[in-house]
Amino acid sequence: MSDDFLPIKGYDHVEFYVGNAKQAAHFYDKVFGFKPVAKAGLETGVRDRASYVMEQGKVRFVLTSAFGPDHEITRHCALHGDGVKVIALAVPDVEAALAEAKKRGATVLQPTCAAEDEHGTFVTGTIKYAGDTVFRFVDRKRYRGPFAPGFRPIAARGSEPVGLAAIDHIVTNVYLGEMNYWARWFEEVLGFRNLLHFTDKDISTEYSALMSKVMEDGTGKCKFPINEPAEGRKKSQIEEYLDYYCGPGVQHIAMNSADICQTVRELRKRDIDFLRVPDTYYDLLKERVGDIDEDVDELRDLGILVDRDEDGYLLQIFTAPVQDRPTLFFEVIERHGSRGFGIGNFKALFVSIEREQAARGNL
Ligand code: FE2
Repeated sequence: MSDDFLPIKGYDHVEFYVGNAKQAAHFYDKVFGFKPVAKAGLETGVRDRASYVMEQGKVRFVLTSAFGPDHEITRHCALHGDGVKVIALAVPDVEAALAEAKKRGATVLQPTCAAEDEHGTFVTGTIKYAGDTVFRFVDRKRYRGPFAPGFRPIAARGSEPVGLAAIDHIVTNVYLGEMNYWARWFEEVLGFRNLLHFTDKDISTEYSALMSKVMEDGTGKCKFPINEPAEGRKKSQIEEYLDYYCGPGVQHIAMNSADICQTVRELRKRDIDFLRVPDTYYDLLKERVGDIDEDVDELRDLGILVDRDEDGYLLQIFTAPVQDRPTLFFEVIERHGSRGFGIGNFKALFVSIEREQAARGNL
């Protein structure tokens, strides 16, 4: 779009602050099939932290933990547990992106920084997002090294990939009353538009409800749903997240697979726990979504959900939280035309999430 004042090329990476990056890297490698490609730490001259860059398809995660007790990263982990700190977006021009965002009200946390080494120049700039989460603009077109200056390639074995191809969307949970603030922030500061809007009428069960707005960049490459809790009879899953994360933050990252059955079969083999929907979900499936290419018995077997809208259908599944706190989890999604988010599955899924929430004594 010619009037896109802040053009975005796509997701560059997501950085997690974790308690033990070495062990986290092992988990993302052996369980989720990410390949460790680069590392920064004492051996590369970085004195205060260790970071592992993990890749699969176009998905790039960076896992970072710090050495000292008073380090910002250590304090972040003490407060939030393991979680997403940085959502990094590739932009053609960091300086211009920061200037536009700042002019429109963004809080700049790190002005344009051009880091150089023998591989070229790596440019970044950071703005504040919800809670302690930040957006980082990245321009790596003049950088040819492994990830960024300070990193060295890892001669890693890596396990077999499971077919995760790209980031589809990244969801943030915010406090009641903040969803509209952040939706407007995406519009005004980043030039995104509101793709979809769900009210608590769309997404509710007997116990809990949530409201959600999906924000999308000018090209439709990056999608950010924002959830806020709605009044329910008991504590909503969004409130549970906010209580345990101690503030707003990233609830889940959805990743595309071209063959979700194969991906989920492999992840199940590697002991990933997925949310289960009641078996009755599949009895009503055909009626709800019509003809699909996949075998319903296989979907039932694997616990994969299906939803349809006017553009087509999608298959999706959600993992259980990937740390002890009931906070961050992942979604695997395979799209067949649908640009939606599985609204028809929310209710079936909520029943399932609430069953788990009740088991944790939080409902
Ligand atoms: Fe999602």
